[in-house]
Amino acid sequence: MSLIQDAARVREHAHAPYSGFKVGAAIRSVEGRVHLGCNVENVAYPEGTCAEAGAIAAMIAAGDKRIAEVAVIADCPAPVPPCGGCRQKLAEFAAGDVVVTMATTAGARLQMTVAALLPGAFDPGFMVNADKGAP
Ligand code: THU
Repeated sequence: MSLIQDAARVREHAHAPYSGFKVGAAIRSVEGRVHLGCNVENVAYPEGTCAEAGAIAAMIAAGDKRIAEVAVIADCPAPVPPCGGCRQKLAEFAAGDVVVTMATTAGARLQMTVAALLPGAFDPGFMVNADKGAP
């Protein structure tokens, strides 16, 4: 099954009663597993979480560390681009050359790298004054 198919499958579980905009995301980790996420909205609107954030959370909870490939799908006029916050989240767990495939349920596709989606990302390497935490 392709990563887009995985994203389409988890999109069916999206909880989007307020926007009606269901999104599915699938991440293949460098460690070789696939992790899924869908958007989960709350009636307190800003509390909702994006599909990409859910997939990243699933990857970390499963014990994998780095993203190798991403697919995102929604029912919209053009391939769904990750929001700004999710671009930052992806950039923290993926190398700049990692490919994000954006898709529509109608079959449109757009591929961009993480670096192209977020040039000049705020990088963990900037945290030179941070206390040394657990890795
Ligand atoms: N959303 C995602 O889950 N991922 C994206 O890439 C774009 C937007 C969600 C957030 C919200 O639940 C709904 O789509 C409308 O913004």
